[in-house]
Amino acid sequence: MTPTGDLAGRRVLVIGGAGYVGSVLVERLLDAGARVHVLDQLIYDNGFALHHLLDRDLDRGGVTFTRGDLRDERVVAAAAAGTDDVVLLASLVGDPICAKYPELARTVNADGAKRIVDALDRLGVRRFVFTSTCSNYGIHTSDALATETSALNPQSLYARTKIEVEEHLLAAAPSLDASATVLRIATAYGMSARMRFDLTVSQFTRELAAGGELLVYDADTWRPYTHVRDIAKAVMTVLAAGEEQVRGEVFNVGDNTQQFTKRMIVDEVAKHLTSAKVSYRDGDTDPRNYRVAFDKIAEQLGFRVDNTVQAYVGALVAAVQGGVFADAAGNPRYGNTEVRHLG
Ligand SMILES: NC(=O)c1ccc[n+]([C@@H]2O[C@H](COP(=O)([O-])OP(=O)(O)OC[C@H]3O[C@@H](n4cnc5c(N)ncnc54)[C@H](O)[C@@H]3O)[C@@H](O)[C@H]2O)c1
Repeated sequence: MTPTGDLAGRRVLVIGGAGYVGSVLVERLLDAGARVHVLDQLIYDNGFALHHLLDRDLDRGGVTFTRGDLRDERVVAAAAAGTDDVVLLASLVGDPICAKYPELARTVNADGAKRIVDALDRLGVRRFVFTSTCSNYGIHTSDALATETSALNPQSLYARTKIEVEEHLLAAAPSLDASATVLRIATAYGMSARMRFDLTVSQFTRELAAGGELLVYDADTWRPYTHVRDIAKAVMTVLAAGEEQVRGEVFNVGDNTQQFTKRMIVDEVAKHLTSAKVSYRDGDTDPRNYRVAFDKIAEQLGFRVDNTVQAYVGALVAAVQGGVFADAAGNPRYGNTEVRHLG
């Protein structure tokens, strides 16, 4: 199933549209003929992620932008005026940034997101997609893959804030006019205008390809991975699906074959290098260890990924060795390390 086409003319508000996933989603929505409004506070000075999109498709509305904080109800109401669909991406994304700014994580990821759920019908929204994370499974080491109904086992404030919103949304969903859906997304990889090198596949690949020595903790812990373009495709698949297929539903987003241990990712990168300097340590710095079933989104919505970690790693090695990311080492532009604009 290709979601493109079904979204022509739809007016979509993407909250967090200047982020790593968001800038890719906005571009794909424009490709599909949608009109997009982005609400983003640019908390990492990441407005550059939208530069190449701001003059596209002006004859049919293109992209409009509001800089603002999702915790401000008036800002959200103004941004949502006249839109059909709302996709909520914005949050403090990742365990480290939430641990560093716990109060912001609570007020943005949990309180702010729940207020948006509560406002959906007032705002006249038809579809709402909340982006959650497979991190919610935390430690899931049984042989059976984690499904949408498996017990959640969060290991971080980040995952706890996401679960809090999921529960709030799923409790409200049956009585909402809006059709609300939760996507539990695998760890992302892939190129984006707001590139992040604080995510495992891209971090390992960049560091090894740049010739550095990579230190890997807990090498045999598993996780699923999904390309940012496939995340965008999943969001668009939900927006284009029949309401009865997605209302009040939770879908894991990824592919059963795209799950790897950290050691497997290192081995994949090493195939493209003449030498790879790696040391392994058991440290329990990140206890997460989970493998996930992605059958539901495949069977119910016909969703398939188009990308693989194996192909991406080769492309990123070539880009790093070609000097494209020469400024990336230690550069806060390429990750979620320091919040610059959020009080
Ligand atoms: N990247 C991943 O590996 C991954 C995996 C699973 C789920 N997700 C989910 O996908 C979504 C997007 O992740 P990402 O990697 O693009 O993150 P990101 O950090 O690159 O983007 C987040 C965006 O939200 C904005 N933002 C943050 N707080 C805001 C606020 N209070 N008001 C307005 N804007 C605000 C930021 O400026 C940024 O542009 C998140 O909900 C995340 O939980 C991501």
